[in-house]
Order: sequence, then C-alpha cells, then structure tokens
Amino acid sequence: MINNKPLVMIPGPTPVADPIRQAMSQQTFGHTYGEFVSIYKECLTGLKTIFQADHMIVIGGAGTLSMEMALINTVRAGEEILVVTHGVFGDRYAQVAKALGIKADVLSCPVGQKVSLETIEAHLAGKKYAALTLTHVDTSSGVMSQPKEVGELAKKYNTLFILDGVCASAGIPEPMKDYGIDIIVTTCQKAFGTPPGLTMVAFNEKALNRREEMGNVPSYYCDWKNWLPIMENPSLYFATPPVNLIMALNESVKIILAEGLESRYSRHDRIGRSMRAGLAAIGIEPVTVKDALAPTLTVGKYPNGVDDSAFRLKMEEYGVVVAGSLGELKGKAFRIGHMGNICITEIIKTLSSVERALLALGIPITAGAAVGAACIEWDKK
Ligand SMILES: Cc1ncc(COP(=O)(O)O)c(C=O)c1O
Repeated sequence: MINNKPLVMIPGPTPVADPIRQAMSQQTFGHTYGEFVSIYKECLTGLKTIFQADHMIVIGGAGTLSMEMALINTVRAGEEILVVTHGVFGDRYAQVAKALGIKADVLSCPVGQKVSLETIEAHLAGKKYAALTLTHVDTSSGVMSQPKEVGELAKKYNTLFILDGVCASAGIPEPMKDYGIDIIVTTCQKAFGTPPGLTMVAFNEKALNRREEMGNVPSYYCDWKNWLPIMENPSLYFATPPVNLIMALNESVKIILAEGLESRYSRHDRIGRSMRAGLAAIGIEPVTVKDALAPTLTVGKYPNGVDDSAFRLKMEEYGVVVAGSLGELKGKAFRIGHMGNICITEIIKTLSSVERALLALGIPITAGAAVGAACIEWDKK
C-alpha cells in the first residue's frame, strides 16, 4: 500500500506517534471530572520527574506564552534582565521583556556561534540583574547553549535563571535541581511529540517566592497564583484546559518515562550524529559551530547553486517536509528537526529525499552516500 502521508521533519511540530494521537482522539471528558482529573495529575507528576521541578503549570497556549508567563510572574516593569541570545528565539525574549516594560541587556554573537561563559560572567559581575534568560537550543541557528555552566553562574551572582527549553525539553537533559535552573519555559510540539497547543512552565521554590514578593502582576490568565491551585487539584476551575491535548501529553510523558530519560537523551544524541554524518557525506555542513551542535535539529548550509524553495518543494514531492531558515540565514540554509518519537528510519527517509532532491536540482552527489554514512554512524551506538 502506498503511504501518502508526508513525513514532517521540521523543528516542530514533530511526527505524532500513534498512541499519542489515539489518546487525543478519546472522548472529551468534562474538565473537572474524575477520569480527566487523574490524567491531568498523572501528567503533571510525570513532568515534575522529567524536569526535577517543584511546581509545574501546563495550560493552553503556545511556547511564547510560557516565556511571557515566566517574566510576568517574577520580574517587575522597570527591572533589568540579561538576555543571552543565539538567534531569533533568544531575541524574542528581549522583545517579550520590552512588551512588559522590563529592561533587557542583550548578549549576542555571530550566527551559529555561542556567547562565551566569560562574557556572561563579566555582565553578571558588573550589574545586578533580576533574571537571566538563556535559550537551550535556538531553533533558528541550531546553537545548543550550556545551561549547566550558566546555572552555576546564575547561582554565584544570585540571579533568577530562566531557560527556554522549547527546542530541547524531553530530548536533551534539563534537570533543574542539578543544573541550578529556576524556571524552564517550554511547549509540547517538539521533543514531546504532541500536537501543538500547550504551554508549560516548570519552576522551583525560589521562583515561587519571587512571585509572592511581586504582589499583583499585570496579567490575569498568566498569573501563577490563579493556576497553582488547579495544578494541585484539577477538579477545581479557573479557565477551561484543552482536555484532549492534555490527554495526548500524558501519553507522551508515559512514553518518555517508559523509554527512560537516559535512553531517550542518548537516542537523540545518536540521531543528531547520524543526521549530520549523512549530510556531511554529501557536502552539507551545519551553520552551527562544532561544540554547539544540538541533538534536536540541524541547520544545514545549502551547497552553491541550490534554491531554497526549489529544494523544499522537491523534498515535499518525495514525501518529506523540512523547514526554511529564519533571520539572516533565510534562503541560505534549511532546518531539519530530528527530535521526539522518531528513530533511524525517519533519518534514512529524510536523507534519501535530500539526496534525490539535490540530484534532481543538478547537484553532483553520490546517490546513497548520505544514507550509508548515517547508518554507519547509527550503528556505532
Ligand atoms: C527555542 C524556541 N523558543 C520559543 C519558541 C516559540 O514557541 P511557539 O511557536 O510555540 O510560541 C520556539 C518556536 O519554535 C522556539 O523554537
């Protein structure tokens, strides 16, 4: 039988595994009734285990809402934060701060590179910041940052550490307590492999104490104090949660815990290495420096003469969707997401389509080279 469903290999939403889709297609329970209340609780407990979180809020919304929620609940208008950015999504944190009247000092670097720990430390030593934001993996540049080391700095200079985990959570370790992270903001459509629509914030007692000190905050829907009683007891009502999405996320969390966190993270590492070995075999190099390559996505430079839309259209014709690039990389690179509930089969299908697309566009590569190199890398374990 012919499978006409495209394989969606963009950096989110990622392919949704059958058990997750089936969980989502169950009947819609009343949001404060028995069976759903247990599912919501089970989901939150599982997430706390994944993140080592003291508190967890999961509600309807996109990842950007979680970014806004973290600042609204912990930083006052007029206070200063340090934003470390490696691309479009790091920059977004500065824009969120601006919208809330919070002053942001922005630390950036050339695309594909990492802001050094020395630079971050120099800024933290020079000024007292209410908070520091860092993107774990910037989905525009493919740069993976160093949350563990930055967590040590945040602790040393006593600033609240907010990590954007959107393109990393459930694919790369984010143990809050071990790394000294105070808040993780994230969402469900990337390495969790759930359809989009949920915003998630994991936080510790320090962050909650900050919320207590704030008094009133300038939002109703985003106020943690309105949501925390619901997270403790989902049979209470504040605003209607997306029932079926939470059922899907709970299934995803169960899959993650059954796989085991260490196995899941090493599978992602192996997938990332295999994808990159495959691309390198046909002359496609990442825009990202070697020591910042992420297990969850690759941003590959186009070989000379390849047109972005022609390439991606060919890929679609062969059944695989990849993403174009953002910001200054637009038209010069393409992005492949490789996270969530996928394995070498999806990598092979993607790489074989990359090979076919390049050949169709007249780029002289050796057919099979990328697939072969990926399989060899995968078998190294
Ligand atoms: C690293 C990162 N942060 C934040 C966001 C924003 O998430 P959303 O599009 O769900 O609002 C994205 C989206 O891709 C992202 O990749």
